[in-house]
Amino acid sequence: MITIALASNKGGCAKTTTACAVAADLALDGLRACILDCDPNQHAAAFGRRAQLTGFTVVPNVGEENIIGEIRNARSGCDFLILDLPGVASRLTILGIGKAAFVVVPCQQSAPDLRDALRTNHQIDETGDIGNRTIGRALLWTRVPSGFESRVAKQIRTDGEARMPAFAASLMERTAYKEMLLTGVPPRVSEPDSAAAANVQAIKTELLNRLATLDAAARNEAHA
Ligand SMILES: Nc1ncnc2c1ncn2[C@@H]1O[C@H](COP(=O)(O)OP(=O)(O)O)[C@@H](O)[C@H]1O
Ligand SMILES: [Mg+2]
Repeated sequence: MITIALASNKGGCAKTTTACAVAADLALDGLRACILDCDPNQHAAAFGRRAQLTGFTVVPNVGEENIIGEIRNARSGCDFLILDLPGVASRLTILGIGKAAFVVVPCQQSAPDLRDALRTNHQIDETGDIGNRTIGRALLWTRVPSGFESRVAKQIRTDGEARMPAFAASLMERTAYKEMLLTGVPPRVSEPDSAAAANVQAIKTELLNRLATLDAAARNEAHA
């Protein structure tokens, strides 16, 4: 099992959307993907109740008192454990980041959002320091409008990518993702040939490639 955290000190940056889309896509590949819903808003848990996908589960109501135990419980039953963390820095986010082999930091292309994402990046560094390890992470630009990139968006992307690693693929702004959370049906099932389905697959593939570059120690330490 490999543990991936979705973390940002910013609400609404698409942590839950990314967690649900990527986990569902992994399940559609025949892998066992489990989300721990660590946000009191419980939106991933609501998606989990609607989604009827083999190999996909969501554990609801995960907080600082039970996250470590739930990670341990999940170990035997899943290939990918995805921690959907709340949008505030807290002991819970530190515990989640501390148990992750890799952290995805979703961020919209706006200056306040980037500042919050960079704070999260710093928090990942500090959490890694506690365990004497470097925690892999990458910024994921989210809710990116299709069409040309504005000058402001480009400036923010350049700033962000100078400060921390970033995914080449971005999560585009698409109604299909809102529909997915509403219906429990991911775009790859509802519209297999859609741009939204291809977008999720590109992000998932890049994530898998990044996980493959982690050395065994980084993986093992995260699971110890
Ligand atoms: N790529 C996207 N395209 C369209 N709507 C999105 C996208 N990502 C997120 N949203 C919408 O933005 C809101 C916040 O997203 P969510 O994933 O819940 O963020 P977070 O978990 O970071 O708080 C939700 O209403 C969601 O449907
Ligand atoms: Mg959320």
